[in-house]
Amino acid sequence: MFNLTALPEGFHEDPYSIYAALREDTPVCPQPDGTFVLSRYEDLDLVYRDTTRFISDKKAVFGPKYGVDSPLYEHHTTSLVFNDPPLHTRVRKVMVGAMNPRALAQMEPGLITLVDSLLDEMQAKGDVELIEDFAGAIPIEIIGNLLGIPRDERGPLRDWSLAILGALEPQLTPEQEEWGNRSVADFKAFLRHIIEDRRANPGDPETDVLTRLMQTDVDGGLTEVELYQNCIFILNAGHETTTNLIGNALELLERHRDKRAELLANPNLITTAVDEFLRLESPNQFGNRLTTEDVTFHGHTIPAGTDIHLCIGAANRDPRQFDQPDEMLLNRRPNKHHAFAGGPHTCVGLTLARMEGRIAVGRFLQRFPDYQLASGAERGGRIRFRGFANLPARVR
Ligand code: HEM
Repeated sequence: MFNLTALPEGFHEDPYSIYAALREDTPVCPQPDGTFVLSRYEDLDLVYRDTTRFISDKKAVFGPKYGVDSPLYEHHTTSLVFNDPPLHTRVRKVMVGAMNPRALAQMEPGLITLVDSLLDEMQAKGDVELIEDFAGAIPIEIIGNLLGIPRDERGPLRDWSLAILGALEPQLTPEQEEWGNRSVADFKAFLRHIIEDRRANPGDPETDVLTRLMQTDVDGGLTEVELYQNCIFILNAGHETTTNLIGNALELLERHRDKRAELLANPNLITTAVDEFLRLESPNQFGNRLTTEDVTFHGHTIPAGTDIHLCIGAANRDPRQFDQPDEMLLNRRPNKHHAFAGGPHTCVGLTLARMEGRIAVGRFLQRFPDYQLASGAERGGRIRFRGFANLPARVR
């Protein structure tokens, strides 16, 4: 039986055949620690929408996992994603407002300039590493701009974000836990002077998320801890996920040369193609919810107070929802995948992420139509987040 803490050999290379068996044979899959995995599209859809029976608050889960006095506990129980109303609504309103169409349109020219400069640098090198030189370099700039983090101070952000989100994995070594705790503490210390500076010199609240978070008076505004931890969350949320979207897309287009040719012949397909990359290789493969009462799926009852794992990677290939679920159809429509979850916690940054994917992958392909992956590709090795740590390539 599928066990999140004892994955079969070869899982990271191809989790999808394992997910298919899980989805078909044990759609309500008990885990040794009393949690359950759900993997059918319709079940995830129901859970995301029903915020009465399935809540996001994780205090009951993260208390035993991290210890209630730890920096990781403070972070993960204060960020909006692991909260329900009222904190969730309060923070979300501010963030959604900052992702308005005007703010996103203003970001697009800067994004194109950034992508083109990275492409120039890669062209000069010839042999490149697609995560460090490209996929990882884009989101950090975009989110750094969104929060107004000075460019020369962005260096440590990527490692902090990997450590803090990495601590959400089902199983942690003491070293990973220590790295996560240290990263939350360092990140908070780093934000202190940025927040103090912004208090003295507020930015444009239309586009500057940090100024918005500081100035909001929705339901009395945010406490200091809420402000810090939600800044950290937004920096992390938009980072590794978007890196993985771009890296996974470039790997998919290497494996499916016919699709690469199709996209080159018809570049307008890039918009629907990005959603197909997100469906097939979802950067975020698992989410969680806690049951507030006994709930029954397919004749199996999950007790109240149970942590459930939502397997997005399996649901996004459910044949009940998607025709030819394992095929990459660049113009797939409709494509109501759950890569951005669903319901009231649907990803706040989805339009921004799609824009980054469209511009990064689209322009990369136009510049390097014959790119080839080289040996040495290394997967991130995580269950929750799916992507590459290294993706060497030749672009000349
Ligand atoms: C391809 C890139 C991305 C993917 C796959 C992704 C995926 C997700 C998912 C699955 C969730 C829901 C988690 C849950 O409730 O279980 C989420 C929430 C969130 N994401 Fe994203 N995300 C991406 C990019 C971004 C970006 C660029 C930003 C910000 C600029 C962002 C900000 C957020 C925020 C603030 C939430 C919390 C929403 C809430 O709880 O109401 N994400 N994301």
